[in-house]
Amino acid sequence: MLALEVSNVTVRYGGVEALNRVSLSVSEGERHVVLGPNGAGKTTLFNLILGEVRPAAGVIRLHGEDVTRRSVVQRVRRGLGRTYQQPEVLARLRVEDNLILAVRGRIGPRFTVFSKRERDRDTRKRAFAALNAVALGGVAERRAHELAHGQAKQLEIAMALAGGARVVLLDEPASGLSAGERKQITAVIDGLDRSVTVIVIEHDMDIAFHIADRLTVLHQGRVLACGDPERVRAAAEVREAYLGSGLDG
Ligand SMILES: Nc1ncnc2c1ncn2[C@@H]1O[C@H](COP(=O)(O)OP(=O)(O)OP(=O)(O)O)[C@@H](O)[C@H]1O
Ligand SMILES: [Mg+2]
Repeated sequence: MLALEVSNVTVRYGGVEALNRVSLSVSEGERHVVLGPNGAGKTTLFNLILGEVRPAAGVIRLHGEDVTRRSVVQRVRRGLGRTYQQPEVLARLRVEDNLILAVRGRIGPRFTVFSKRERDRDTRKRAFAALNAVALGGVAERRAHELAHGQAKQLEIAMALAGGARVVLLDEPASGLSAGERKQITAVIDGLDRSVTVIVIEHDMDIAFHIADRLTVLHQGRVLACGDPERVRAAAEVREAYLGSGLDG
């Protein structure tokens, strides 16, 4: 079953064609990496999948359902979550409170037979499960602004999971991190439950090829190559676009 299917999508910003007939399929549980030079259209692809930008043409399906005309909120309710190039956490709140808000955002004010106490217990349970999934159980009490940059990135992943995401989009989770932090975030992504589908934009080739079951390479808004790591590594067009940037490594 496909978790996500983007078919022949075009996105224009005024005269700029940020995506040009781009297609991408991601199976449930897959780790899919999106590669490409600056300005290739990677973040635009994420904005499109989430519903923050609308395509001029093409279709987006989430678990088989056409969501092209659905709002961001409707897509999030259907299990989509993301992180941003710059972490988006509530800096003054404690780590666990960031997560509790993420869980509450997911549940929403709806009718329930459970008492407030039971609901609070359940919320905390989900919040801590998400924290442990990204190895941040030890810093639950800290304020988010006290976290190192790498931990803030981990917290953002936890918030997407706590919000109920089954398909998570991670926009450059390793950018700006130290070597140690990169190792840590790679381990966190490796450790995520396979019930979650993960799509990652990553510039670091070692991390990209380590994480990926399959990759898509974007270049100037078009798909240059797509497939498993061996296939993408071997693609002549990719070598050309990345000449000298470490694909041989
Ligand atoms: N809101 C916008 N308005 C106008 N043009 C935009 C907008 N967002 C992106 N673009 C343009 O669309 C193209 C793709 O940008 P995008 O941010 O998707 O690239 P990217 O692959 O994420 O790059 P980076 O690696 O630098 O993050 C670029 O030419 C960019 O200038
Ligand atoms: Mg980007």
